[in-house]
Order: sequence, then C-alpha cells, then structure tokens
Amino acid sequence: MREAMIDALERGVAVGSGGSRLLRGNHPEHEALEAEAATFFGAERALFLGGGYIANFALLTALPQRGDLLVYDALIHASCHEGMRAGRAEYLEAAHNDPQAVEDIIRDWRYKGGKGCVWIAVESLYSMDGDRAALADFLAVADRHDAFLLIDEAHATGVFGPMGRGLSAAYEGRENVICLHTCGKALGAHGALICAPSVLCEFLVNRSRPFIYATAPSPLMASAVRHALKLLQTEPERQNKLANLVEFAHRELVTRCGMEGSGSQILPVIVGGNARAMKLAAALQSHGFDIRGIRPPTVPEGTSRLRIALTLHVDELQVTDMIDCLAMHLKANPQ
Ligand SMILES: Cc1ncc(COP(=O)(O)O)c(C=O)c1O
Repeated sequence: MREAMIDALERGVAVGSGGSRLLRGNHPEHEALEAEAATFFGAERALFLGGGYIANFALLTALPQRGDLLVYDALIHASCHEGMRAGRAEYLEAAHNDPQAVEDIIRDWRYKGGKGCVWIAVESLYSMDGDRAALADFLAVADRHDAFLLIDEAHATGVFGPMGRGLSAAYEGRENVICLHTCGKALGAHGALICAPSVLCEFLVNRSRPFIYATAPSPLMASAVRHALKLLQTEPERQNKLANLVEFAHRELVTRCGMEGSGSQILPVIVGGNARAMKLAAALQSHGFDIRGIRPPTVPEGTSRLRIALTLHVDELQVTDMIDCLAMHLKANPQ
C-alpha cells in the first residue's frame, strides 16, 4: 500500500479533491476506481463516497421516497438509523436475521394500504455478533414483493466471497440489489463503494445530498482503494490465511473455553453486565491482548460483551494464548 501511494503521488495524483464531484472535485482516479470496483464486485456501476457511515446516510435519505416502506434488521448499524431518521419513508424494525419477520411486516403494511416501494436493509455480516445474514432468503422476500435489498458488506468485504468480494458476490448486478463495500476495514484504506444498478447510481449522483454537497473524497485515497482491490485479486493467500486462523480460533474456543464461535472473524463473548465486560476487557488488555468491551447502546441491554476481531496481525500461538487468558479470567470473574 505504501509503495502504491508513493507511486500515485509521483504520478501526480492529488491528496485533496478541492471540491464536490459535481463541480471541480471530480478526478480520473475516482472514475478509474469506480469502473474497476464495478467490474470486480460484479455490479453495473459503483460510486465512491467518503466513508460507510455517510454512504448509508446517502442511500437511505435519497432512495426510499415518501410513501415507501423501509424494513430494517434489528441489529443494523447506527449509520442506517441516522439515514432512516433523516429520510422520507416510513421505517419498521424486523427481528434480527429473520426473513419471515420481514415478509410479515411487508404483507401487513400492504394489507393496511401501503402502496409505495419496499426497501429491506440488512448487513451481510453483523458487526457486533459476527453472524451472517440469510441473504438468499432475504433476496427471495425482496423478489416476491418487488422490493430492493440493501446489503451493508462492511465486515465481509475483503474477508468472504470469491477474491474477497463479500457475501453478496452471487447477487451483485441484480436490478434490486444495492451493496455497500466499506474501504476502511479489510481494505486498509478509507471510503466506501456503493455498488448498484446504473439508474440508481445516477439518481444518487443527482439527488443524494452527501454526494452533491460534500468535498469529493481524496483522489489519493481512491488510488489506495484501487490498489487494495488489486491485492485482493493477486494475493488470495491473505484471505485464505485469515480463513484458516478463524477456523483455528473457533476450534480452540470450543476446546479451551467450551464456547461456540460466530463462524466469522468477529467473535463476541457475551458476558452480560457492563462492569463485567469492562473488567474482563481490562484484564485481557493487561496481558497485551487488544480486546475491547462493548456496552449498550451499541449492543442491546444485558448483552455487554468482549468483541474479539481476528486479523492477520496475529498468529495461532497468540490466538491460543488469548483464549487461555480469556478462559482464566472468565472463571475468575463469574457472573
Ligand atoms: C456495518 C457497518 N456499516 C458502516 C460502517 C461505517 O463505515 P465507515 O467506518 O467507513 O464510515 C461501519 C463501521 O465503521 C459498520 O460496522
């Protein structure tokens, strides 16, 4: 990444864009990234925005219209909540990862006279629980009800799917699927890519206020993301190594802690109360493990937790040590 950045600077790529995309902030690096991202993720078009938070806000304030319905998963990210609140559509919460609950809400809304378009918002991999959405089932619901499915891939991009294309790789390019790939997590850069049908991207370019009225993202960052996408394609060993580490950690969690894993690189250890979570986090940090305690309102009341996020910065030995340390402190700090 460092060499790619130096190379981009030497090619004359600007650090700052200097203006909105619609005025003088548009840069060939943005356009090159968007073209490459659309091809890589299999979407008709991609739009590069400053980050995932603002991209969710942009999507949910611009696309659902007055008279529409937005059904969202109970554990959806805070940025979606901001977008829904500031948006024009009615919004209703569905139980977590429950396609049937989404369908019941849509049917009930139609029965009561709802006439507009329906939008369903989910994450492909939930940030605080590490579990995967039942994407195929949500898509089937969306198809049955002529609805759009918005999939936030923040935690799956670069980690899951062929070449790290995410968990929605098989569905991108469909006319009712909109995916958000953030660039600040596994891609190691900054920004976000909205991948969607061209007609929706065109609508966002002309109607989405965060796209129109914000200074365009750094062209240099667009170069960084271009390089990160290249790395996903040319160095698949990174993705494989993380997958093996995740599998290893799950096995170790069961044998050393008697605990089931989430199936992903995000491993929540739900400990209940706030004080216990923070005490355990401090204990693990004192042994050198960078594990944070997560409390309400980020997670539901009574489900405070340690959030273990596995990355390529650690190896199997460190994972084993961490799990032993966790087991010891869980025992020493009973509920
Ligand atoms: C699921 C999810 N969506 C969106 C975001 C926001 O993305 P960004 O950090 O790029 O603004 C985050 C967290 O950062 C996230 O966890």
